[in-house]
Amino acid sequence: MYNTKKITSDLFWVGANDRRIALFESVYPVPAGVSYNSYILLDEKTVLLDTVDKSVNHQFMENVEHVLAGRKLDYLVINHMEPDHCAEIPTIVNKYPNVKIVCNAKIQTMIKQFFDFNLDESHYLIVKEGDTLNTGRHTLTFVFAPMVHWPEVMVTYDTTDKILFSADAFGAFGAIDGNIFADEVDYDHRYMDEARRYYTNIVGKYGTQVQMLLKKATGIEIKMICPLHGYVIRKDLEKFIDKYDKWSSYTPEIQSVLIAYASVYGGTQNAAEILAGKLAELGVKDIKMYDVSTVHPSYIVADAFKYSHLVFASTTYNNGIFVNMENLLHDIIAHNLQNRKVAIVENGSWAPVCGKLMTELVSQLKNTEIIESKVCLKSAVKADKCCELEALAKAIVEKGLN
Ligand code: FEO
Repeated sequence: MYNTKKITSDLFWVGANDRRIALFESVYPVPAGVSYNSYILLDEKTVLLDTVDKSVNHQFMENVEHVLAGRKLDYLVINHMEPDHCAEIPTIVNKYPNVKIVCNAKIQTMIKQFFDFNLDESHYLIVKEGDTLNTGRHTLTFVFAPMVHWPEVMVTYDTTDKILFSADAFGAFGAIDGNIFADEVDYDHRYMDEARRYYTNIVGKYGTQVQMLLKKATGIEIKMICPLHGYVIRKDLEKFIDKYDKWSSYTPEIQSVLIAYASVYGGTQNAAEILAGKLAELGVKDIKMYDVSTVHPSYIVADAFKYSHLVFASTTYNNGIFVNMENLLHDIIAHNLQNRKVAIVENGSWAPVCGKLMTELVSQLKNTEIIESKVCLKSAVKADKCCELEALAKAIVEKGLN
């Protein structure tokens, strides 16, 4: 049965939730599922904006047919060719053979790469940056947003109702629970962390390109943002744009300390706990600790974008960095994190080497200062190491937390 949502008098959500998916992109846990958003504009011409993942194809097609209510589909706008959004293009083309696909040249190339259907050029409306399409009451403007999150990405701006169809930007993990607007749910408590985890892990590497898109957006009036995942944003747009500005400029949201530790028998964890306690005694609030062995790195990457000061504490393993910590550090580097203060704690019962190796990795982060007072443990924390951890806490606080 169809399950559609009305957004305006002539704009409808025809997407669907996947609540059974375990790993989004085969990497990221999504315990609350994910939504694949697609929208239909009912104007003198009918317009479908993006499709969905193949996992929800039946729900999607029921929704499309219900909203169109027997009308033909005139245009299919494709903003992004990742298969979580484009998978149902063949189904739409098959069902509505006269539909015109509105896309840019890179998208057209990818359509031909992904699919076997053979539409002649008359079935495409290839747009360039700033091109417009009038559908009756509405005029759609196409704005290119390369690498947000793939090179072909564009966003569509409805100049009539001031609605931005933002592709992956402003999306979030988590299924849509009945409501469609972000202001209808307790977004800050229930979804902002997942919006950050989604952004930082999916698009975080491309901060420069997101900044370019935000600059383009500052020149236009936006009343509503319709992303490809998560809730539609129609209130407090400044709050969401501010978050995206911070995330994409690698600016910490809070001045505090994230401690990620890897501990096999508890010695390194003990050091991390003691350090956290010393930081708390020095007045640091909202310290966050993660065991890299039990928490998926996507959660830690997200908070690394949130926190100003990062501590990596690891045991030495196979004469290197403990595997989960090494994976985390590579992940953080891959996501281009910058502008942080970092401290290192190493452990090793006979040949501690991971501090040097972690320092080498962290040194790849731009504009990132490695705090000198590295602590080297031998197996367990002893009184002298307690003093060193206290000194490290003071050194961290002196880097902008006092
Ligand atoms: Fe939700 Fe880049 O696809």
